Amino acid sequence: MQIHSTIESLRAARAGAGKVAFVPTMGNLHEGHIALMRQARQHAGTVVASIFVNRLQFGAGEDFDHYPRTLQADCEKLEAAGVAHLFAPDETVMYPQPQRYLVEPAPAHVSILEGEFRPGHFGGMATVVLKLLNIVQPDVALFGRKDYQQLMIIANMAREFALPVEIVAGDTVRAEDGLALSSRNGYLSAAERAEAPRLYRTLARVRDAVRAGDHDLSKLETEAMAELAAHGWAPDYVAVRRRADLQPALHPHDPLVVLAAAKLGRTRLIDNLEI
Ligand code: PAJ
Repeated sequence: MQIHSTIESLRAARAGAGKVAFVPTMGNLHEGHIALMRQARQHAGTVVASIFVNRLQFGAGEDFDHYPRTLQADCEKLEAAGVAHLFAPDETVMYPQPQRYLVEPAPAHVSILEGEFRPGHFGGMATVVLKLLNIVQPDVALFGRKDYQQLMIIANMAREFALPVEIVAGDTVRAEDGLALSSRNGYLSAAERAEAPRLYRTLARVRDAVRAGDHDLSKLETEAMAELAAHGWAPDYVAVRRRADLQPALHPHDPLVVLAAAKLGRTRLIDNLEI
């Protein structure tokens, strides 16, 4: 695997590659990331990954400074997964001057769910994703359903800006007890790690109730929040929404997804399940 720390080096490598599939990450790679790398190999002969902890998408008081940085171990995993090129710029490469031109996602997409609790997050995320797509110029780019709203915003950005890239979704990879893999799981104490799968179990209960015909969504959401709170969580939201745009469901036959965010101790976890 070749490691590129400059745009010029990555671009030169890209010019010689044929079809390229790209998986952007912030590093501290786990099996969820690696599954995306393997999926990428089915789409293109050359897989490019990136590792960049993007300051623009972290709010004040969030974990930018403490976000785990594990480049050595990450490189070994990428190499084993068959990734040909890693783009691992530092901030002086990605933001040689303060980034003044910013992507502003649709207000309807950033005023809800994660956007309500992380103001500015999706604008910073979309800005770096657009920049990375322009640098790598992939044919296909892969993103996980674990970050369902992020995936929806990226897919809409690509469509509305006519970006010449196909956006592909990857399924959420979970631990055996159901907890969605996340770099932030490393922040959990042993007791919190034992409690953490309740988030998945609570979402699964909502999913199963809706599938069984219970369409009182606001009751199901309230009960799920109460269940988490009763076990020491501080839930931000549990919400059943339309998959397409994450707005409230108008019709019982809309394809739905249930999404949640909750804090366990100092760690904020998100998860979702399609219904
Ligand atoms: P990061 O959190 O490192 O995630 C990189 C990619 O891996 C994202 O597409 C995310 O949805 C996916 N992913 C994370 N955990 C997963 C899991 N358990 N199963 C499947 N996929 C999973 O998301 C970001 O970085 C950043 O916002 C980024 C898009 C790189 C822009 O900075």
